[in-house]
Amino acid sequence: MEILRVNSLTKVYNAFKGAKEVKALDGISLSIGKGEFVAIMGPSGSGKTSLLNILSGVDKGTSGEVYLNNRDITTMKKDEVTLFRRKNIGYIFQDFNLLDSLTLEENIALPLILDKVNPKNIENRVNELMSFFNIEDLKKKYPYNISGGEKQRVAAARALINDPAIVFADEPTGNLDSKSSNNIMGIMGKMNQDISSTVLMVTHDPFAASFCKRVIFIKDGKVKMEINSNGDRKQFFDKILEVQSIIGGVS
Ligand SMILES: Nc1ncnc2c1ncn2[C@@H]1O[C@H](COP(=O)(O)OP(=O)(O)OP(=O)(O)O)[C@@H](O)[C@H]1O
Ligand SMILES: [Mg+2]
Repeated sequence: MEILRVNSLTKVYNAFKGAKEVKALDGISLSIGKGEFVAIMGPSGSGKTSLLNILSGVDKGTSGEVYLNNRDITTMKKDEVTLFRRKNIGYIFQDFNLLDSLTLEENIALPLILDKVNPKNIENRVNELMSFFNIEDLKKKYPYNISGGEKQRVAAARALINDPAIVFADEPTGNLDSKSSNNIMGIMGKMNQDISSTVLMVTHDPFAASFCKRVIFIKDGKVKMEINSNGDRKQFFDKILEVQSIIGGVS
């Protein structure tokens, strides 16, 4: 089943008179199926963040279509997109974006509280996810009381709280040392493996990408190539490095 379909997506910044135009996305087409774990890779400036912002409804493309769960989000009005995102998309932010004034269980529950879900249902769902990620004991703690690895798991639980059709992540290993990178990629792998979450992340980090099952390479706003993993992470890592050296522009 197809979760995400992108047709000929373009994004031109400064597309108004007098300013210098930047073509960040130049006709991107791709498809993500249910249960896939995909990385979009590309050098700095290749359009990764621009793409993710449009796929997640944060920004609008200049032309093209983005179907999420068979609905074209590019034609939705602002309020409609906001609601649609809250129901269908999970997001893991680079710096995790936990709110310091809320306990961890409140942080995780927040999207459902905003959606006015019945408190008993919220509690059940929070318990379920906290136990899945092995953080049940942290319920009443605050973000500043826990370790970086625990924060990652809280952020992952929050991304899944609305049972999203797809989870997006932008450079999840961006600011992290190798141990923490390994942790967050392991968490995303577990989400994909154990509960069949569909995960799409953008990264320029071959190590992070090697955890995925498929990598789509973009450069200058265009899809250049894609490769699939045979399940062996080390081999996939080498293959990713090889493709990077062929298409060039490693950041
Ligand atoms: N708001 C903006 N206004 C004008 N140009 C922009 C804007 N945002 C991005 N760009 C340009 O669009 C191109 C793609 O940028 P984007 O941020 O999508 O790249 P990226 O692949 O995420 O890079 P990085 O790996 O450095 O995060 C770049 O040339 C960038 O300078
Ligand atoms: Mg970026």
